[in-house]
Amino acid sequence: MTARLQYGPTAKVFHWLIVALLLVQYSIGWLMPDIHRGDKPGTAMTFHVSVGLTVLVLIVLRFAWRLGHPVSPESSLPTWQRLSSEAVHWLLYALVLATTFTGWLFASFRGWSMSYFFLAPMPMLASDDAAAGKAIDGLHQAMEWALLVVIGIHIAAALMHVFVYRDRIMQRMLA
Ligand code: HEM
Ligand code: HEM
Repeated sequence: MTARLQYGPTAKVFHWLIVALLLVQYSIGWLMPDIHRGDKPGTAMTFHVSVGLTVLVLIVLRFAWRLGHPVSPESSLPTWQRLSSEAVHWLLYALVLATTFTGWLFASFRGWSMSYFFLAPMPMLASDDAAAGKAIDGLHQAMEWALLVVIGIHIAAALMHVFVYRDRIMQRMLA
């Protein structure tokens, strides 16, 4: 399959929709009350888990779309930037997947039954296992921080292209 030179409208909508949802997701994650033993999920947690599941579905769809519609890195970039941007993009996909999956496992090991935006029951493992839940909680937090660091690197690189290199890399995802 020949790689395109530009991102199409679908790739751009997926990109910015996921950016917006991650912003909401981190805000809910940090603002919602801490979970204690035996707690039942409240409204904030229902929204966190529902937005998280939406991100999970979108990242899988987006990844499938990317496989079917590959876009080659900008040809004017030096080799090290082409390779490092590809690596960061792969890492972003992997970490979004890992963050959502560990979150879902954590909620499952609490034995919670949850609803998707209070509309329909959500698929859960529903196996109450406190020890596994504790281990997974640490993993969810580690993944959410690792994702944040890589997002920071990605945004810093985008800003470098706008303000230092002054090339059209940012335009690839905008226009
Ligand atoms: C990329 C998507 C996600 C992000 C960025 C994210 C982020 C966060 C953040 C920032 C917290 C607060 C933890 C802390 O205090 O450090 C949190 C907690 C939590 N998240 Fe997520 N999350 C995501 C997806 C999910 C999903 C899909 C689920 C479940 C299906 C989930 C379930 C939970 C639970 C149960 C907690 C509470 C953990 C505790 O209070 O110890 N998360 N998440
Ligand atoms: C303000 C925030 C952001 C800006 C300004 C931004 C900017 C960009 C730009 C300019 C590109 C194109 C790079 C190129 O063609 O080489 C890109 C690609 C990409 N961005 Fe972002 N981004 C942001 C946030 C995020 C976040 C939060 C994620 C997390 C999932 C993300 C994931 C990706 C991925 C995976 C690609 C590669 C697209 C593909 O080939 O599928 N971005 N971004």
